[in-house]
Amino acid sequence: MAASEAVAQLFCGPPLCFDACVNTSNKGFRRIQFYNGSSKRFSVRRWNCQRGESVGGLSADDGRLQTSFPVNGLSNVQNIELDKKLNNKNGGLLANRLDSIGAKSVEDEAWDLLRESIVYYCGNPVGTIAANGPNDSIILNYDQVFIRDFIPSGVAFLLKGEYDIVRNFILHTLQLQSWEKTMDCYSPGQGLMPASFKVCTVPLDGDDTATEEILDPDFGEAAIGRVAPVDSGLWWIILLRAYGKCSGDLTVQERVDVQTGIKMILKLCLADGFDMFPTLLVTDGSCMIDRRMGIHGHPLEIQALFYSALLSAREMLAPEDGSADLIRALNNRLVALSFRIREYYWIDMKKINEIYRYKTEEYSYDAVNKFNIYPDQIPPWLVEFMPNRGGYLIGNLQPAHMDFRFFSLGNLWSIVSSLATPEQSHAILDLVEAKWAELVADMPFKLCYPALEGQEWRIITGSDPKNTPWSYHNGGSWPTLLWQLTVARIKMGRSEIAEKAVKLAERRIARDRWPEYYDTKRGRFIGKQARLFQTWSIAGYLVAKLLLTDPNAAKILVNEEDSELQNAFSYMISSNPRRKRGRKQTFIV
Ligand code: GLC
Repeated sequence: MAASEAVAQLFCGPPLCFDACVNTSNKGFRRIQFYNGSSKRFSVRRWNCQRGESVGGLSADDGRLQTSFPVNGLSNVQNIELDKKLNNKNGGLLANRLDSIGAKSVEDEAWDLLRESIVYYCGNPVGTIAANGPNDSIILNYDQVFIRDFIPSGVAFLLKGEYDIVRNFILHTLQLQSWEKTMDCYSPGQGLMPASFKVCTVPLDGDDTATEEILDPDFGEAAIGRVAPVDSGLWWIILLRAYGKCSGDLTVQERVDVQTGIKMILKLCLADGFDMFPTLLVTDGSCMIDRRMGIHGHPLEIQALFYSALLSAREMLAPEDGSADLIRALNNRLVALSFRIREYYWIDMKKINEIYRYKTEEYSYDAVNKFNIYPDQIPPWLVEFMPNRGGYLIGNLQPAHMDFRFFSLGNLWSIVSSLATPEQSHAILDLVEAKWAELVADMPFKLCYPALEGQEWRIITGSDPKNTPWSYHNGGSWPTLLWQLTVARIKMGRSEIAEKAVKLAERRIARDRWPEYYDTKRGRFIGKQARLFQTWSIAGYLVAKLLLTDPNAAKILVNEEDSELQNAFSYMISSNPRRKRGRKQTFIV
């Protein structure tokens, strides 16, 4: 028996055995259920949590404890009935719902679906399920609430004035932050936020007749590839700020436990390591691209979220003596991070031409080609792709390696967070317009461009059959990115293109049943392994629609360029670190 099985057995003896939830920690609110041994069913005693329909039970079929996860907004018992109906080819509730598509506006349908994806814990809404597809035979972890996936759902609810679910999500995920979790005897750093969580029903300690609901987080220790979710904590901070700005309720961010949560995330990100770079060093798969795609190192997406989270945290941290060092470290990091990204990640025609003529092997403090980039690395596709007008931030920078791929989320969020300068931000949008056929074509928006193919695909992805060229993370098109595109365009006063993208998506996204992603160079096919009724595709569309109606509301997500930071940045540029050895400099902003 494997060690993990032995441990699992300690927690679950028959008949109350369950697969996913072996954690018996007693954090969080509880609802107690009682087991009636004779009928092998649970009867529910209403405790302080009162929502009857999200009750779990022991299925008569296999004697396993079912989780109380409310798929489609329904309880397990209801869902079992629903499944039965769906399996009956003559119809069923969901099938009827599918038939009704077309009768409603796309937006109305999206709202219905978003509400049906809500997950309840002790009767309170705490998040949205990742995907709610009717025919998913292998659920994997799409039945969980992903932190990153919930962000567009949360923003949609905020913009609609429904604040409770976001508040609950923020506070419940905060409880999970310091959950004791280990992988092969090792725990994640304090402050890590989980990638996802689910609501489970487990036997109550010391009482075989009762169960309780718990939140069971996954920090990557169960995830495919065991990927650590670096982006979760950063998104959490961004959502917390948006909640305060939108609802006007600052009491949440002012709470002592929330302030502590923010500081724990910051401490984890700002901790000293071996690195000489201000960018965050992460493993492959640490963000939306959560599989091996050659993005380990200092990927742009993480840096943009990091910058945004630092600025947002600075706005929310209560001034107190104990945080002075943290704020100082945060300010220094902001300056160094923006300098690095703006200077070294930026490419346009002019910069590529510089790289094309780089000298290599420069040993000196004032090298021009600091990272020893060999000009032969400039890929042939880039020569075609780079428009005369426009530019973008590359995906990653390492010694002797520039990852020239265009990563959409990193570029869009660099605009939103003001990590890119205003000129760079406009240039990125110019490139999006010039390269519409490559980046959007039939469905917004390519996650990255171009796809890895042939030998490169084999080596970099490890021959990943899910990430084949122009599919999934490897050049697939993700409708959820509509919302980030819209925020970026609104911030730069150029929202027309976002409208065009939304209209394009609207032509087929509902008919296609809200896929997770699309395949092929032009995004013409529903992704080979794409989930249907993917919640962040639905929510991403809704946020884009809501913001286009009220562009002013985009402010809850935008970080404006900070003038003090700008001054510090100009000082760094004028002291010209390209030529001189930088003196140790601390910027007090
Ligand atoms: C996939 C995506 C990831 C997302 C998850 C749940 O793994 O790559 O970004 O969070 O699905 O939708």
